[in-house]
Amino acid sequence: MSNNNIIIFDTTLRDGEQSLKASLTVKEKLQIALALERLGVDVMEVGFPVSSSGDFESVQTIARHIKNSRVAALSRAVAKDIDAAYEALKVAEAFRIHTFIASSALHVEAKLKRSFDDVVEMAVAAVKRARNYTDDVEFSCEDAGRTGIDNICRIVEAAINAGATTVNIPDTVGFCLPNEYGNIIHQVMNRVPNIDKAIVSVHCHNDLGMATANSLTAVQNGARQIECTINGIGERAGNTALEEVVMAIKTRQEFLGVDTRINTQEIHRVSQMVSQLCNMPIQPNKAIVGSNAFAHSSGIHQDGMLKNKNTYEIMSPETIGLKKEKLNLTARSGRAAVKGHMADMGYTESDYDLDKLYEAFLQLADKKGQVFDYDLEALAFIDMQQGDEDRLKLDVITSQLISGLPASAFVQVELDGKRVSATSQGGNGPVDATYNAIMQIVGMEVKISHYNLTAKGEGAEALGQVDIVVEYEDRKFHGVGLATDIVESSARALIHAINAIYRSQKVADLKAKK
Ligand code: KIV
Ligand code: ZN
Repeated sequence: MSNNNIIIFDTTLRDGEQSLKASLTVKEKLQIALALERLGVDVMEVGFPVSSSGDFESVQTIARHIKNSRVAALSRAVAKDIDAAYEALKVAEAFRIHTFIASSALHVEAKLKRSFDDVVEMAVAAVKRARNYTDDVEFSCEDAGRTGIDNICRIVEAAINAGATTVNIPDTVGFCLPNEYGNIIHQVMNRVPNIDKAIVSVHCHNDLGMATANSLTAVQNGARQIECTINGIGERAGNTALEEVVMAIKTRQEFLGVDTRINTQEIHRVSQMVSQLCNMPIQPNKAIVGSNAFAHSSGIHQDGMLKNKNTYEIMSPETIGLKKEKLNLTARSGRAAVKGHMADMGYTESDYDLDKLYEAFLQLADKKGQVFDYDLEALAFIDMQQGDEDRLKLDVITSQLISGLPASAFVQVELDGKRVSATSQGGNGPVDATYNAIMQIVGMEVKISHYNLTAKGEGAEALGQVDIVVEYEDRKFHGVGLATDIVESSARALIHAINAIYRSQKVADLKAKK
């Protein structure tokens, strides 16, 4: 491997996923993993198998499907974690066990209640155990950003001697400033005697907004792996954003002198997918993937752009896979046209279900007239989340709000193939009345702990996307609904969440029978 290649280690499905309000389903995680594989990430960390049976199952499913990226799983420096990581990963074409233990005095004393000597011993034992399973073992010293440099060097040297092939120096709490973090990496590169036997990796959090700068400074000081997530999602303020470091390396290649193997044209697509499935909107001014990232507003800027794009554009939108909108899909368009538009946006048929998408497209085209590419994208990834196997399906919904009177709603659904309806009077508004009617039908009290409405597209005919998080029996479930009418998208979101509850009950029943 050439020394100017930067290994991109994506942790969207581990560090990113652990920050979500409601966890992703196995199907959603696999969908993201396949998109990351197409993006060309070298390593994808996809979970923490010992943490739950759901996490174990998703790591195993992804390990089974991914062929062109290395699949990694996290484990504490504890035997049962390492064994679980191996059990989940062993079906993969290529895999890595990632084991970690905290190294800062604060974590060692307050959290682990051990001495630093014990911690080094545990790190060595963990790496050795993982090496019995694979020759690709990564070791991380958690909170390295606040660990004294002598201790970092000591634990890194011991981990490499024990067999670690990648050593990761995380700035777990996003505390470091670029010079400071660059200097830590410089010291590691120069003071650890066996450092040439391992790749030095960086994992930065964004608490002070330094994650991208810190990662790039680390690269300038010799790090050769960057850990990052799509859209920068992750614990608290998130992790280094993959799209930012990759595009910085591409755009400033002459200055940095390194490269990645990422297929940058996939960036926009995977960013949209992660945002939708994770219920994590992207701020419009977010670097690279925000909706304004390539928009030019002021007259002076627009004038400059018309004369020469380089005046205000340092990279072209096409590099990240952005295509110009086409406005010509209507109810008269056939399946081939819909498929063609999806293909132009870079989606292959395995990414979505054409029959379902076409059906949803026709319904929308009847209401809206013209259907835009962003509508198609939203339909493909939101409506598709409602599966044929769902027990509960929305049939009819009407709601009424007369000023000064309580709202009312009538809802008819199919529950296990049977038509059932309910009317609710006295809601705080049409959405509340609709939710009461749905809960009456299913005989379930769920608590709506989060409700978010976003317009997809522009104008009065825009689709409204509702994302909700519901709490039921101490667990959280995400529901998403899309429609031109807000009450309908709200109802669809609740029905989506209730179907997720039903699915989890089915899994629990199956497990209980085993
Ligand atoms: O932030 C961190 O330190 C981590 C480790 C587990 C690598 O996520
Ligand atoms: Zn982290």
